[in-house]
Amino acid sequence: MKLLIKNIKKLVQIEEEGNQLKTKVSGKDMNKLNCIDNAYLLINNDFIEDFGSMSEIEVINKKNKDCEYLTEIDAEGRMVFPSFCDSHTHLVYAGSREIEYIDKIKGLSYEEIAKRGGGILNSSKLLHNTSEEELIAQAFERLEEIKMFGTGAVEIKSGYGLSVEDEIKMLRVIKKLKEISPLTIKSTFLGAHAVPAEYKSNQKAYVDLIINKMLPKVAEENLADFVDVFCDRGFFTVEETDRILSAAAKYGLRPKIHANELDYSGGIQIGVKHNALSVDHLEYTGDEEIKALLKSNTMPTILPGAAFFLGMVYAPVRKMMNAGLPIALASDFNPGSSPSGNMQFVCSLACIAYKMTPEEVFNATTINTAYAMDVNKELGTIARGKKANVFITKPIPSYEFMPYAFGSNKIEKVIINGKIQ
Ligand code: NIG
Ligand code: FE
Repeated sequence: MKLLIKNIKKLVQIEEEGNQLKTKVSGKDMNKLNCIDNAYLLINNDFIEDFGSMSEIEVINKKNKDCEYLTEIDAEGRMVFPSFCDSHTHLVYAGSREIEYIDKIKGLSYEEIAKRGGGILNSSKLLHNTSEEELIAQAFERLEEIKMFGTGAVEIKSGYGLSVEDEIKMLRVIKKLKEISPLTIKSTFLGAHAVPAEYKSNQKAYVDLIINKMLPKVAEENLADFVDVFCDRGFFTVEETDRILSAAAKYGLRPKIHANELDYSGGIQIGVKHNALSVDHLEYTGDEEIKALLKSNTMPTILPGAAFFLGMVYAPVRKMMNAGLPIALASDFNPGSSPSGNMQFVCSLACIAYKMTPEEVFNATTINTAYAMDVNKELGTIARGKKANVFITKPIPSYEFMPYAFGSNKIEKVIINGKIQ
C-alpha cells in the first residue's frame, strides 16, 4: 500500500541519509531546519520510502507505475511536518480538577493546594474510585484529541495510583492504550509523584514501598519503559531520588525525572548522575545545573504549558541554548498544572514565553522529544525508513504561521503509521 503526497508547499524537518541520522540537535543548530520547497513524500505501508523535489516526480511515477495501490494526495498550498513527539504527559487520569483552578485564580499556590490534600492526592482519590475500563475510555479520548492536534508519539506516566495496586492499575491502562491506539506510546513508572496521606509522617516507608514492592512488580509485569521521581522541594529529596533511581537501574529502567520546578532542588544533578534520558520542568536552572547538563546525555525538557498555567518563573531557555544545550518541549498534559496536550499551543507558548524561534521550537518538539522518549531511530524527522507519522497542514503562508496563529488547529490531515486518520 503506497501513498504519495504531491505538490507539498514545504516539507519540513527532513533528514537525508548518507551522513548518519541525527539523534538530537543542540545549541545554535537548534535554529536550523532542513526543508524542501515544492516537494513530494512517498509512504510505503507504515514507513517513509522516499521524498524529494517535485522536479524529480517523473522518476517516482515511473518506478511506481505498476503499483496499483498508489493513493495520491495533492497538497497544493499545504505543508507537511513530522508528527510531534510529546515526551512528557500524565494523560491517564480520572475526571478533572477545575475547582483547584478556581482556587488558583483566587491566589492559592500549587504547593498550598497540594498541602490541603488537593493536587496530585485529589487525582489519586479519583483514580482509585474509577475502573480500569473507564480510565481507558477517558484516556483514549485524550489520545484521539492530541492525535488530531499533530502528536504522533506520546509518553504517559503513572503517578496517580500511589499504592501498589493503583500504580499497577494505571500502568496496565497505559499498556492497553499501547494496544488500541495507533500512536507510539512509552510508559513511565512515577510511584514517587507525591507522598500519600497515610505516609505523611513516614515518607521513608513510602520510598521503601516503591523500592521493595512497586518496582519489582512493575518489572515483573514489564509495565514500564522508564522511571520518574518528582525531585523537588516538598516532594522527594535528592537522597530519596538517588535510592529510587539506583533500585530502578537494577531493572534496566532509565530515568526521566521531574526536577527544579519549585527550587534549585539538586534534581538536575541527580538525574545526570543516573544518566537520565531527560530532566523536565527546569524553571530553576543556574550555572551549576547547566554545567552538569553539558557533560551529560540528558535532554533538558521544558514544559511551557505548566509554567504558563501555574504562573511560574520561566526557565532560562535562551541561556541554556547559548551554552550549547539541546532543548525539548513537551506538554505535561495533566489535570493539575497543564490540562491541555495541544502541542501546537506548546509551540506558540514557547515562542512567546521563551523567545524561541519557530525553527528552535520545531526541533524541540520533534527530534529532541523523540530523543527524550527514546524513539529517535523511528520518529522525530522525515527520513527514509522512519515511521510514516506526519501531518498535512491547512493552506498556510509559511511555517512561522504555525506558532503565530495560536489557538486554532492548523492541521488538516493526520497520517499515523502510513494511514490517514
Ligand atoms: O508535571 N510536577 C509534578 N507533577 C505534575 C502535576 C501533576 C498534577 O498536578 O496532577 C506536573 O506538573
Ligand atoms: Fe509532569
